[in-house]
Amino acid sequence: MKPRSASLGNVNARGIFVTPVRSIFCAALVVLLGVALAAAQTAKGPATAKTPANASARTASPNQLSSPAIEAKVNTLLAKMTLEEKIGQLVQYSAGAATGPTSGRTDDKDMIRKGQVGSLFNVTGARATNELQHIAVDESRLHIPLIFGLDVIHGYRTTFPLNLGLAATWDPEIVEKASRIAALEASAAGVRWTFSPMVDIARDARWGRMSEGSGEDPFLGSAMARAYVHGYQGEKLDAPDSIVACAKHYVGYGAAEGGRDYNSTEISEHTLREYYLPPFRAAEEAGVGTFMSAFNAINGIPASANPFTIKQILKKEWGFKGFVVSDWTSVSEVMAHGIAIDGATAAQKAFLAGVDMDMQSNLYHQNMLKLVQSGKVSQAAIDEGVRRILRVKFAMGLFDHPYTDESKESAAFLRPDSLGVAKTAATKSIVLLRNEAVSGAALLPLSAKASSVALIGPLADDAGNMIGSWGGLGRGEDAITLRRALTQKLGESRIHYAKGGEILSTSDSDISAAVSAAKDSDVAILALGEDAPSMTGEAASRAWFGLPGRQQDLLEKVVATGKPVVLILFSGRPLTLPWAFEHVPAVLAAWYPGVQAGNALTDLLLGDAAPTGHLPLSWPRAVGQEPLYYNALNTGRPATDPDHPAEKGETKYVSRYIDEKGTPQFPFGFGLTYTSFRYGSTSASAKDISVSSLRQALAAKGKNVLSVTADVTNTGSRAGETVAQLYVRIDGTSIAMPVRMLKGFQSVTLAPGETRKVTFDVDEEKFAFWGAENKFGVEPARVTLWVAPSSAEGEPTTLNLTER
Ligand code: NOJ
Repeated sequence: MKPRSASLGNVNARGIFVTPVRSIFCAALVVLLGVALAAAQTAKGPATAKTPANASARTASPNQLSSPAIEAKVNTLLAKMTLEEKIGQLVQYSAGAATGPTSGRTDDKDMIRKGQVGSLFNVTGARATNELQHIAVDESRLHIPLIFGLDVIHGYRTTFPLNLGLAATWDPEIVEKASRIAALEASAAGVRWTFSPMVDIARDARWGRMSEGSGEDPFLGSAMARAYVHGYQGEKLDAPDSIVACAKHYVGYGAAEGGRDYNSTEISEHTLREYYLPPFRAAEEAGVGTFMSAFNAINGIPASANPFTIKQILKKEWGFKGFVVSDWTSVSEVMAHGIAIDGATAAQKAFLAGVDMDMQSNLYHQNMLKLVQSGKVSQAAIDEGVRRILRVKFAMGLFDHPYTDESKESAAFLRPDSLGVAKTAATKSIVLLRNEAVSGAALLPLSAKASSVALIGPLADDAGNMIGSWGGLGRGEDAITLRRALTQKLGESRIHYAKGGEILSTSDSDISAAVSAAKDSDVAILALGEDAPSMTGEAASRAWFGLPGRQQDLLEKVVATGKPVVLILFSGRPLTLPWAFEHVPAVLAAWYPGVQAGNALTDLLLGDAAPTGHLPLSWPRAVGQEPLYYNALNTGRPATDPDHPAEKGETKYVSRYIDEKGTPQFPFGFGLTYTSFRYGSTSASAKDISVSSLRQALAAKGKNVLSVTADVTNTGSRAGETVAQLYVRIDGTSIAMPVRMLKGFQSVTLAPGETRKVTFDVDEEKFAFWGAENKFGVEPARVTLWVAPSSAEGEPTTLNLTER
């Protein structure tokens, strides 16, 4: 069995209100848990799928941001700096002519020489970064190197699947590998800082930026957050091929009202701590060097001027040692939010809230000197901000190796082993949503059925779109389309290709040509969906998310030919396609798979690989269901049958829609493959656990307190992999907890007919939550547990957490 699980990865996802003593205790606990876990692994027999460690679940690398040596270097340098030079370190611009809407500063070189800038971004290439770095190191008074940043979001030159697709792998190990490759390529091009990972919880598919994150769940999101940070920052942050990661957008950005990008958010402290903060906390514990403050306001206070989230929680409670950069002009946007009426006040509020570096708004440069001279910002506060930035620069070894070896740059890109990881990641990211029988057998894999194939749709041969909405320096020309890969595999003569029109515009003749191609073939494959650059990602909120343009029409006409149809959806969000999910026998959610798109899809279509992707989100039936997420509260009037329309139901006065089912089209965690699995009933090793013993056990050893198991059987005729998911519900508590919460997952590979007992070792953390007083802990409660293949399945068991 392949070791993959994250059930123990979240061992220290709290730590709020910790005293220094408690912090030390927590750190020791993490180590102890790691040792216990390693021992459990060594002891486990081959037939039992326990919860093994993996890349994301490993003990967090020791925090490399601070050490006595680093602090000494920072203090020595700080003592030499003028106030102007200190302020310079707090300033960041996008390189080149356009240095910002309000800046009017276009001479990068002059600014660098004068020590007026600490970081540049959007400049890439070893030669270009070296040239600017030489000015900083050779010509500025104190020779402080610049840190070059870039949005390396799902790959630099080797483009991996879109982040939502990476999350759909449910495989932190492959995400870590992909991020490591991104780091190797970016650092070879002089980029040592990525504005990634985006760890925003996204519960609303209207929000286009859902595509950049890991979906709706804090547990899965935390596992992915750790994987990205470990991959980017590597074993040693100061290695020249490591890049500093940036957890963004801190915090609550994904909760934008109505899913409209940049919109305000209302998030209670409980909701913030229980759902939105955990992936950020996981990134912080994994040693992330930087955070980016978000665009949204939270309960009226802009996230980029929010002392509660930045100063109190991030810096004080968590003890974060790195620095916080604003998002693009989010410091000046504090004025538009309405809590400042001039730039100086905006700068003051953002900086005093804890935003150390001003990306692009130029307000720190323009105002900070006067703010210090007038006493509105103290020298000590400036020193603290600069200290954080210098700490990161020292920790990443920038003073020792500021330059990049230009001779090695191009050899770092698109290496065969990198492309191999890209293909594995792409194959694992694709989710099989539907696979109905056609002539007595499931349509996929096509294998023998594909003697002639109609390949139809605007995305079948669109290399640029395979790169996704934020492909770093990825190029369309590097991407293998489905048409190219399928033609290579089956030969030109077996493929009848018809584009069927553009994503947004299709003519009747385009549709006729596609219909003819389908009629001439045994099977039709349709590649449909959104245009990645314009319809997903930033500023791409949608109020409708069916198929854009006339693609629905195209689909219906091809299905009407009576030929079996496979629909491949390319999108950065779930698409509401009720007709397709009723009439199209096979549907795959491919997101945007990256440079190896075509090869991965061809393997899956023809059965050389089987789908293993699972949804990191709840797939809606209708836009009106949004926000839709599985870990919701129960309400006082839950619908016993949420799919029963009210007019036919016995009771009207329950929580549901009168005109749409209450359940998602496909639940969180769902994903089919080419075999089938039966999950037996869940059982737990205890029926009662005392809350005090839980606390004591944790305090003493941090050992696991419960084993939860279920038999899983491969009921099909082909070997296959399922992702077993552990869900928990806690009732009778001081504050309502969700109907289910993911607390573990592991992949299980079974031969046909094989049954295996899947075991989750559960620690106290799995029962702990933020109570009514916003304190993290355990309370007496009834607990329900499921081991299941999705958030909507499984046969549960219960136990009690008792007072004594
Ligand atoms: C704005 C985006 O919100 C953020 O994610 C990105 O990192 C910055 N621009 C820098 O490009």
